[in-house]
Order: sequence, then structure tokens, then C-alpha cells
Amino acid sequence: MQLVIRAVALGAGCVVLAAPGAGPLRAATEPEPLWAYGFLTPPAPGDKAKPQAPPSRKLRPKEDASEQTRPRRVEGSAASYSRLEIRDLGNVIDWFPGDHPPMSPIIKHGPASLGEAARGCGSCHLPNGKGRPENAPVIGLPVSYFIRQMEDFRNEVRVSADPRKPNTPTMHLLAKAMTDEEVKESAEYFAAMRWTPWMRVIETEFVPKTRIVGNLFLPLGKERTEPIAGRIIEVPEDEEQSEVLRNPRSGFIAYVPVGSVKQGENLVTTGGMTVADGKIVPGKTVACATCHGPDLMGLADVPGIAGRSPSYLVRQMYDMQQGARRGASAPLMKPVVDKLTGEDFVAIAAYVTSLVPPPTH
Ligand code: HEC
Ligand code: HEC
Repeated sequence: MQLVIRAVALGAGCVVLAAPGAGPLRAATEPEPLWAYGFLTPPAPGDKAKPQAPPSRKLRPKEDASEQTRPRRVEGSAASYSRLEIRDLGNVIDWFPGDHPPMSPIIKHGPASLGEAARGCGSCHLPNGKGRPENAPVIGLPVSYFIRQMEDFRNEVRVSADPRKPNTPTMHLLAKAMTDEEVKESAEYFAAMRWTPWMRVIETEFVPKTRIVGNLFLPLGKERTEPIAGRIIEVPEDEEQSEVLRNPRSGFIAYVPVGSVKQGENLVTTGGMTVADGKIVPGKTVACATCHGPDLMGLADVPGIAGRSPSYLVRQMYDMQQGARRGASAPLMKPVVDKLTGEDFVAIAAYVTSLVPPPTH
């Protein structure tokens, strides 16, 4: 009970703080961190997302039927699925049923009202809710926060700052099609699980060359020959496991710039505060633990952020800075992100992602 009261008190204070700055979309001052959205070039005026194709269990033209219908296996699972089954997003496969509560119809098939066009929440977010860099980690989110986000998607007050990003509009479509009962069920399903490590952070000057498929970076080889150039490049630990088999136990590597973790630690733990002439000079941001909890694993209705995909974290902070994410509670983040630069976003995400949740979680 104490936790809730503390967060509410904080929240009230912060709303006052945020009020002068809370307004409509602000003009982009910082260039878009393109890597966080899975693009190489900035959007052109008028660019729009192409609607995502509805799920299908059919062979595509020129596909080899025997290859696509041959049963596949992953280590440690008793199940077997063909490629056609694996990519049928309206019928989510389940390599490890013991890793999560039983999947209800909304998690496995998606909103009933969408019929053939429905996608199960587990298809993008995975049955264990760990998610992928191009979508979102939803495991362990507080129920009240989760429901609020679904409301924000429904009302389209949570959009993507990059108008080309195709899966955020899919979230709008799904949220609008869901009944309140389906929203509650999905929130409770993911809230019942605890976050466990999923990302490996590596500081480096060079990254593997990559290609982008579906807004996700995939390595072209193991050798690191391309300068990281101030970005974070997030790739699957094992492309075959993540992409072809959609193994929900196969995680991701985040390559981050050398020194960024330490730089991020300073911003995250002190807000970038310094002492000059014996006086405390407030930093450009606010210590995250105040609202996100001492271990950044969430507090009351504020979501956990520790250990999550850095592309996701930066996308959200940039979306909030740009006013693309402007639901009822987003103003609380306004003073946090307002003065941050692209380099700060990288440093903060590098540090936050590197945090490993304590074993009690
Ligand atoms: C097509 C892939 C896709 C499917 C299917 C999908 N989502 Fe999402 N979801 C996303 C993306 C992408 C985001 C993040 C949007 C962004 O970064 O702009 C997201 C974000 C979320 C968030 C916000 C997480 C946070 O930390 O704020 C929630 C909650 C969520 N989804 C719930 C659901 C539920 C419930 C379902 C099933 C009905 C579902 N999603 C199905 C792609 C998907
Ligand atoms: C004054 C309270 C407060 C502080 C301080 C704060 N946050 Fe937040 N943060 C929130 C709230 C509340 C939300 C959820 C907003 C919503 O519901 O739309 C949030 C959401 C986020 C999200 C999106 C999470 C998701 O799952 O989509 C990120 C990323 C984030 N905060 C990062 C940070 C970082 C990094 C810091 C420190 C530099 C920080 N926050 C400091 C209150 C705060």
C-alpha cells in the first residue's frame, strides 16, 4: 500500500512540473534515432506505413512445399512445427508451454472480432512476453499500466514518431478491435510473469555489417567491421532461432558505444547532477528510480525498464519527447526527456539495458 501512496504523491508533484511544457507535438529538434525505428534514412514528407499483411498459413508463390511443411524442432522442446505453422500469426505456436500461463484465445489468436485478420498477442510479443526490438517487451508490466496503454493505442494518442513504422498502426487496429474483457485478460496474462535476462550488452567500436528485415537488424556475418557511429545495433543472438524458428528462449545482443554504459549510469542515477563551487547543479534529466522503482523494475503503475530492448526504450523516449506518445500519464516523462540529446538516449538505454534483475524478481 505504501508504494502506491508514494507513487501517487510523486505523480501529483510531477504533473505540476510538467504542466508548462505539456502541449501538442513539438517540432523535431533532435534528429530521429533511425536505428531505434529500424530505418536507415529519415522519412520523406507524406511517408506513411504500409498496412501489414493479414496472417496466412498458405504457401507463397515459388515456395518449396516440402521445405515449408517439414517439421522443425528446437532444443529443449517436445513440440515440432513447420515453417507454415511458425509464421501463422493468427495461431501462435508454443515451443515451451511450461514457461508461461496457458495461452487464452486473445494471446493465441487475437481479438475475436477481427476473424481471419486477427493476430495473437503472442505472435509479435512472443508467448513469454519478452518481445522483440521492433515491437515491445510486455512481460511483467503492471496491469493498470498495460490497460492504460491499450486505451492510448485505441485513441491513437500513442503513435510512432516515425510515420513509416508499420506495426504501431497494427497495435491501433488490435486495440480498437478488442473487448474490455480481452484487454483485461491480456494484461493479466503478461503481468503474471516476471522479467528475466534477455539481452546481452557489448560495448564496442565496431559492429557486424547488417541488413534490415521488418525493421529488425540482422547480422550479415560475425566479424565486426562497421563503425558503430554512436548508434545501438541490436541483433538476435542466433538468427535461425529467432527469425526462422521464433524460439522465445533465444535472446538478443545489443552493441553499444564504448563508454556509454558509464555515461548512462550517471544520467539514470543522478539525472546528470553536478556540484560546482560547493553548490548542487541540477542535471538535464531526473533520476529514473524515483518513479520506476529502486531497481528500475517498476513501481505501482509505472512500468519496469531494466534489461529491456534498448531500441524499444529509445523509441519510447524519443516518441515522448516529440509528443507522439501523449496519453494521460505521458506528461510525467516530459521533464525527463525534454532536454535529452541523441547521445543521452543511447547512453541511458545502454545502461538501463545492461541492468540484470535481481533473482527475487
Ligand atoms: C504486429 C505485431 C504486434 C501484435 C500482434 C501485437 N502487438 Fe502489441 N505492440 C506492437 C508494437 C510494435 C508495439 C510498440 C509500438 C511502438 O514502439 O511504437 C507494441 C506495444 C504494446 C504494448 C505497450 C507496451 C509498453 O511497455 O508500453 C502493449 C501493452 C501491447 N503491445 C499489447 C498487445 C496485446 C494485448 C496484443 C494482442 C491483442 C498485442 N500487443 C499484439 C506490436 C504488436
Ligand atoms: C516523474 C516520474 C518519472 C521519472 C522520474 C521517470 N519516469 Fe519514465 N515513465 C514514467 C511514467 C508514469 C511512465 C508511463 C507513461 C505512460 O503511462 O504513458 C514512464 C514510461 C517510461 C518509458 C516507456 C516504458 C514502456 O514500457 O513503454 C521509458 C523508456 C521510461 N519511462 C524511461 C525513463 C528513464 C530512462 C528515466 C530516467 C532518466 C525515467 N523514465 C524517469 C514516469 C517517470
